Amino acid sequence: MTEDIMEELRISTVKRTERIRISVNGRETYAYKGETVLAALHAAGYRVLRRDKNGQARGAFCGMGICYDCLVTINGIRNQRSCMFEVEEGMEIAIDEP
Ligand code: FES
Repeated sequence: MTEDIMEELRISTVKRTERIRISVNGRETYAYKGETVLAALHAAGYRVLRRDKNGQARGAFCGMGICYDCLVTINGIRNQRSCMFEVEEGMEIAIDEP
């Protein structure tokens, strides 16, 4: 996804903080300090974050730590709720490929 599109997916009136680098499945992208992992993933165009045991696509549902539909791997630690963690410089995120 190009940087222009990534910016368009963010709310333009929100004041941004420091821009940082993260990676998603080894692909480098960026986020802003203070964003949740989930917000950064959405801004980067990722909607399907994992597959359940039946192979059904799962993504964000509640956005506040209740539903556990947004589980991803963060820095090698599996099953982390992406809506509950803030991005950090160099963070490595792994999701199930759609
Ligand atoms: S979206 Fe529901 S726990 Fe993260």
